[in-house]
Order: sequence, then structure tokens, then C-alpha cells
Amino acid sequence: MKILVTGGAGFIGSHQVLALLQAGHDVHVVDDLSNSSSLSLERVAALTGIEVPLDVVDITDRSELMASVVRATPDAVIHFAARKHVNESLHRALDYHRVNIGGLITLLEVMATAGVKQLVYSSSGSIYGDAEIHPIPESTMPNPSNPYSRTKAMGESILRDLCRTDERWSITALRYFNPAGAHESGMIGEDPTGLRTNLLPVLMDVAVGNQTDMMVNGLDYPTPDGSAVRDYVHVVDVAEAHLRALDSGPEGFRCFNIGRGVGVSVLELIAGVEQATGRSIAWRAGPRRAGDVAQLFGDTRLAAEGLGMETYRSLDTICRDAWHWQSRNPHGYRTTG
Ligand SMILES: NC(=O)c1ccc[n+]([C@@H]2O[C@H](COP(=O)([O-])OP(=O)(O)OC[C@H]3O[C@@H](n4cnc5c(N)ncnc54)[C@H](O)[C@@H]3O)[C@@H](O)[C@H]2O)c1
Repeated sequence: MKILVTGGAGFIGSHQVLALLQAGHDVHVVDDLSNSSSLSLERVAALTGIEVPLDVVDITDRSELMASVVRATPDAVIHFAARKHVNESLHRALDYHRVNIGGLITLLEVMATAGVKQLVYSSSGSIYGDAEIHPIPESTMPNPSNPYSRTKAMGESILRDLCRTDERWSITALRYFNPAGAHESGMIGEDPTGLRTNLLPVLMDVAVGNQTDMMVNGLDYPTPDGSAVRDYVHVVDVAEAHLRALDSGPEGFRCFNIGRGVGVSVLELIAGVEQATGRSIAWRAGPRRAGDVAQLFGDTRLAAEGLGMETYRSLDTICRDAWHWQSRNPHGYRTTG
């Protein structure tokens, strides 16, 4: 298939592009590089021998996006491009809605004009907010606790409505929990050019010596050790879920949790990183972050039934592969800090 990947230079997107190429698909990337570097795609080219076309385009720019879709003639789109920081969204709500909602609507209109009606959408486990039942099943009513998560839940509502009004659309929303780790080659990994708020890259920065310590935000949550609990899932498994969603998509809207279904606390992740890296991680206690919830881990049964996602790489593998990437690339895609 020919696949257009928005946000394909980013963390998950670059792993997705690699997985698509390895599965024999043709890929075309649209990314404004606001939180990534085109070097990620150069590394993918080094791994595969295939140079993927990259259009440096903002998805909210309708005419530029249309031109990209005309060039790419895709059969389907995987839509990663979005603003993604919970905390930042509390201060820049309008910007989050402009890109995540405005960009989604622009993309859907452009796709409709071009007659492309298959989409895999990056949703988020964070749409559940402070859920009562863990692991959280997909049937749980979304209750997002911040603007970022609200844009993801609203995006799903838009996609659901679209599928109701035109039954030729085939749309899969994947609600990822905490994608982490890196490709086993150590050639591509997580290296945001903007804010660094995901936990594992921060821990890796301490392990490699880019920063002396890190802050554990909140040790007073109602969790076994008081730190926040999340569901870390290997980024290569996340990419695999998209491949399966493309292969098995019937018409209409469907959604799946993409996580391992295992809650891991911040302190447990620190211990995992210490074991994988052989280095001790200095940390200090800090206040809770606004917009965060105590725990978030998903029920994986629907993804097993609907996508055949039965096995996942372990937390040890996530930490080991993240360290392989970080120790080979202490400053990410840049050569110096
Ligand atoms: N990483 C996570 O923890 C996580 C969890 C749940 C959901 N998600 C979602 O998965 C998707 C990918 O996340 P990621 O971690 O790879 O983030 P990322 O920031 O590395 O990737 C997003 C990419 O989109 C690009 N982009 C942003 N705004 C754009 C715009 N207006 N036009 C074109 N390109 C634009 C960025 O430059 C970047 O390359 C996002 O939609 C995110 O909300 C991520």
C-alpha cells in the first residue's frame, strides 16, 4: 500500500516509517519538523536503503497539505502530527486545539477531496483521565483532565461522526499509553527538539550525563510507592499495532488501547533504568504536575482480539533499547549537546 504518514519524522512516526518500509509499503511523510529532525528519516534510509519523500508542511495549511496528498496518492493515512505535551497544553490550549483539532479536520477534508478514506489516528490513553477501573477497558467513558487529552477525545468524536455520515470511511483510533524505548539498532529513538517531558528520555539524559538529576513529580499519589503509575509500551510494538490496523480495517470507526496493560511506577522505572544502564539515577522529590493523574494503564484484550496484539516487548527490553539509542547518541540526532 501507499501510506502518507503525518508527523513521520517524530519519535513514533520514524519507527512507523521504518516498520512500513520493512513490511513493503511505499511511504510519504508530511512533517513541519516543529518537534523533530529530518535526520531521523536519514537514519531510516541508512537502515533500509530507501529514501522516503518528506514534505516539510504544516498540517493546518490546507493548500500545502493538498499538494502533498496529490503527490503521494496514498491508499491510507497514518496521522501522528500533533502537539503532545499535557502540561504545555494547560498554557497553550488554543494552539493545541488549532493543531490537533484544526489540523485533523483539514486532513480529513483533504483526504475526502482526494478520495482517501482509510485512516489510523494517534489517540491517547490519557483521554480516560482519572479512571476508576484499572486496567481501563475501551468502553470507559473518556474523562480527559487537560486540553491535550481533550483534543484527542474530541478528535475521536469527530472521526466517529464522520464514519456515521459516510460509511465508506475506515478509521482506527489507537489509544497509546506510554510509548517508550527505541529501535534495537540504536539508530533511531526519542529526541524531541521542543519540550522534553516524557519520563524515559529524561531518565536517559541523567544516565548519559546530560543532566545531573531528575525530579519525581508527586510522591503522594494513592499508589503503592506514592509515585505515578503508567503503562510503558515499546515503540516498535506501537508501530506493529498500526501495521495490523492497516491490514485488518473494516469500514466504520473502531478504537483500541495500545499498552502492555501493566502499571509501572516512576520509582520502578528508575530502578529499571538503573539496571539496564548500570548507572545510578539521582532524583529529587517535586510537586505533582498539573493535569497528571495517579495511574493510567489499559486493558489489552480488545487489541489482542481485534488486532492480534498478543505479545509485547518487556520493560527490560524497553529500557535496554532506550539505553542503546541514548548511549550511541548522547545528544540525540545532534552531534553535540
Ligand atoms: N509519545 C507519547 O507518549 C504519546 C502517547 C499517546 C499519544 N501520542 C500521540 O502520538 C503522536 C506521535 O507522538 P510522538 O511521541 O511521536 O510525538 P513527536 O512530537 O515526536 O511527533 C509528532 C510529529 O508531528 C510533527 N508536527 C507537530 N505539529 C505539526 C504540524 N502542525 N504539522 C506537521 N507536523 C507537525 C512534529 O514535528 C513531530 O515530528 C502524537 O499525535 C501524540 O499526541 C503520543
